[in-house]
Amino acid sequence: MPKIKMTERVFQTEARVLSNKHIALNYYKIVFSCVSIAKYARPGHFVQVMISGKEEAFLRRPFSIHKAGNGNFTILYEALGKGTGLLSQIKSGARINIIGPLGNGFEYQPSAISRQLSAVSYQPTVIVAGGMGTAPLLFLAEKITGHKVTKSSFDLVRLRSPQVAQDSLRSQRHRVLVLIGAKSKNQILCEDEFKKLGCVVKIATDDGSRGFKGKATELLEYILRNTQYAIRNTKIYACGPKPMLKEISRISSGMNISAQVSMEEHMACGIGACLGCVVDTKTGYRRVCKDGPVFNAEELIWK
Ligand SMILES: Cc1cc2nc3c(=O)[nH]c(=O)nc-3n(C[C@H](O)[C@H](O)[C@H](O)COP(=O)(O)OP(=O)(O)OC[C@H]3O[C@@H](n4cnc5c(N)ncnc54)[C@H](O)[C@@H]3O)c2cc1C
Ligand code: FES
Repeated sequence: MPKIKMTERVFQTEARVLSNKHIALNYYKIVFSCVSIAKYARPGHFVQVMISGKEEAFLRRPFSIHKAGNGNFTILYEALGKGTGLLSQIKSGARINIIGPLGNGFEYQPSAISRQLSAVSYQPTVIVAGGMGTAPLLFLAEKITGHKVTKSSFDLVRLRSPQVAQDSLRSQRHRVLVLIGAKSKNQILCEDEFKKLGCVVKIATDDGSRGFKGKATELLEYILRNTQYAIRNTKIYACGPKPMLKEISRISSGMNISAQVSMEEHMACGIGACLGCVVDTKTGYRRVCKDGPVFNAEELIWK
């Protein structure tokens, strides 16, 4: 395998697979032992994975870092096609060539600072996770909350209508609100993990099988228009399908609220060399793999 010239904090390494577990439907979690990537990984960073099997998947595949710490990092992935199908068959103990951590991640206030700031001013955080876009956002929530599992005293009422959302949210000043969007209830990812961090979690499903019936962005807009979350200090972080991110961009700019969105373009090199992943921004074309994947929503020009 040719060595790629890496920067001080980007590594190409043969990471050892500690586990690769099926968690639901086509979803898997793979844990790697890799001190270098785990040490420098930040929320929103991704890795490029060279997947080999009986036949080798030609390109590296990009995956967000879902968790990192103690010399390990985790990827949460959906087996969709050839590469991820091969990845799902990889056994513990295998070694996989990985480049990372890559990209520019989310800008956020680490827990200690945000605790001090929230003592003087109210700074709500809203995380919007659409489908597999949940993957990088759990890592972000861990950093923002300080990874402390607190016994939640929040009213975790299941949302049946926006009115219920309004009633439950008006009464309390939650700090990190997580909206998880999925097509159906069996595709909701990481709900319990977010709750363990002390986040308030609200669910939106397209078919109404859990929580609010509709898109996570509809729920977001309702909450921002009708509760204390719509203030100048509010910060929105999102990852998910492009139409969802476009909608978040519209909502946040209309309300003058800051939003960071993590884009998932198809990638080839993954290290800024091929221009295969560009998106249009107010300052020209930018590479998702190198300049992103996280962008300020207001910078992006949506087609
Ligand atoms: C920065 C970044 C982070 C990502 N993080 C994750 C993650 O944490 N977990 C995860 O499951 N997936 C993630 N993806 C998407 C993942 O890279 C693709 O699902 C994967 O490359 C598909 O490979 P494949 O060979 O299995 O699929 P292919 O056989 O190449 O394609 C199968 C299907 O997947 C779609 N697909 C392929 N690449 C992408 C892509 N980049 N984005 C969206 N759809 C794609 C194709 O359009 C096709 O419908 C991320 C993508 C990017 C760019
Ligand atoms: S994938 Fe090559 S520049 Fe981004």
